[in-house]
Amino acid sequence: MCGLFGTRGHQHVKETVVSGLQDLSYRGYDSWGLAMQSSGKLHVSKEVGLIPDKPTLPDIDTSLAIGHTRWSTHGEPNVTNAHPHLSADKRIAVVHNGIIDNYTELKDSLNKQVTFLSETDTEVVAHLLAEAYQGGGTLPEALRKVVKRLKGRFALLVIDAEHDQLLAFRQGSPVVAGTDGARQWIASDTFALSRQCNEAMYLEDGQMLLADAKGMHLYGNDGNILTPHMEPISTQSASSKLEHYQHFMRQEIDEQAAVIHRTTQAWDPEQHLFPENALDALQRIIILGCGTSWHAGLVAEYWLERYARLPVDVEYASEFRYRDPLIQPGDCVIAISQSGETADTNAAVDVAKEKGAYIIALCNTPGSTLTRLADHVCPTHAGMEIGVASTKAFTTQLVVLYQISIWLAEKLKNLDKSICCNKYADLDTLPEAVTETLQAEANIKTIAEHYHKHPNALYLGRGLHFPIALEGALKLKEVSYVHAEGYPAAEMKHGPIALIDSQMPVVVVAIQDHTYEKVLANIAEIKARQGRIIAIGSKNDTQLTQGCDHVITVPNVTTDLMPLITVLPLQLLAYHIAAYRGCDIDKPRNLAKSVTVE
Ligand code: M6R
Repeated sequence: MCGLFGTRGHQHVKETVVSGLQDLSYRGYDSWGLAMQSSGKLHVSKEVGLIPDKPTLPDIDTSLAIGHTRWSTHGEPNVTNAHPHLSADKRIAVVHNGIIDNYTELKDSLNKQVTFLSETDTEVVAHLLAEAYQGGGTLPEALRKVVKRLKGRFALLVIDAEHDQLLAFRQGSPVVAGTDGARQWIASDTFALSRQCNEAMYLEDGQMLLADAKGMHLYGNDGNILTPHMEPISTQSASSKLEHYQHFMRQEIDEQAAVIHRTTQAWDPEQHLFPENALDALQRIIILGCGTSWHAGLVAEYWLERYARLPVDVEYASEFRYRDPLIQPGDCVIAISQSGETADTNAAVDVAKEKGAYIIALCNTPGSTLTRLADHVCPTHAGMEIGVASTKAFTTQLVVLYQISIWLAEKLKNLDKSICCNKYADLDTLPEAVTETLQAEANIKTIAEHYHKHPNALYLGRGLHFPIALEGALKLKEVSYVHAEGYPAAEMKHGPIALIDSQMPVVVVAIQDHTYEKVLANIAEIKARQGRIIAIGSKNDTQLTQGCDHVITVPNVTTDLMPLITVLPLQLLAYHIAAYRGCDIDKPRNLAKSVTVE
């Protein structure tokens, strides 16, 4: 994962790199570092933890620097493993995002000549560069030689002690760059660039960028010079601020009514999701995603099968790509990702694309790698999501997945146009229902206070609410570090019921749909074993209150849209349990917002 930021050509490079790294800290925040060129030397500052507002940096004049915010892959988060990494002669500095798959082999080849200081895969790049550079030629030539020896998906920024040159290389991990002529900025995403410029170029795999006093020079795979293509930076990349809330997660939970409305409105039912004739050939939908995005896919499976009457497979992106999956003519992949930079999802899309699948990206980040890989993009309009725990991105993904299902139902003539219009219109009931649901916060907070010291929790749901149970459990794990499991309610008796005793809180989604009676039976089974039931139930359901320790009621929308409502109390429950436990809610330990390594 990790975030990279480099800049040259001005007197404020230290401050600019620091603010760039702060913007990129969603990509990792266990340590940070800068390398700054001054008077023919490289000065390095590194520390463990999140980059502070005003870090102590050497009092030097510099106009060239690179920086890094880290999410550890190789080696624990400590100062030695923090980037930048230097060559043995301290003349070359490297920051890196991604993984060098063959680094042990390369390390072995260098071991006799250099002593490695860190446990990282990155350090090998610094030593290989020094070796290639000493062999003669320029730093760009050395970089070109070295990257040919590296395997994996990665991005690199490189500077040396004496030349006014900032180098970047992309192989699978994002690199974007902007300039105003005299100054250049290179980063892992456009959000970090948006403070400096309003246009960016996106490097493609195999491309190298050199920034120097003459400007930006882009090179293709074989060293050929390319013309950089600048694109406007989307306004959605602009910074998101914390307004009257303690945490982004809580703010983003409250934003859901507005962003669901915005996403609903942005849908154009007349758009062409597929090229002419491809719709007739459509045979199957494969949904790919990770974490919360995968959960959104599981909900969509119900809608797509019911409305579009197409077979749907929902796959963990990380598993799909290593299975030699069968892709047939007429297969469409819907890849879901908030960030568009999840390495597992993008790598799985690469595989599906290579095998001939048509790719639709459902993504919240305009210009991200996923949107560039896809044949068609369906944007979600959640706005920048900062909290590591995904909330508003999830509910807006559900909106678009529902819209795609209705769109397909209409185009494949499974539902009349008028029924489809009504189904689209059902989305308009959501913002008010979301607002009403969130008013249950005081009740949820009391429940959170009661259970926040319990070390385990079970989450149960059936049908459309099974993925919601998974999502509720994931939220709790992520932000509060409480062990939680999501299960289809009926599966409980096939194993997890052994866990139930008077200390086990069981959160059950029990709304009045066709599974209701069965869920009530599952609740009775838990109560018979002294489990503590926290039920999410329909408003005015008097029956539910009898068997449960706590009931959180939610307003009714149509049965198919209920997952967008039942997930909300689970988000709030996780948030308040984490708050009572004193956890770092927006930046939970060991996590990063965007998982850019496989
Ligand atoms: O950016 P993506 O949607 O591709 O991210 C996928 C997962 O990493 C993400 O949903 C993760 O599970 C969240 N932290 C969940 O809250």
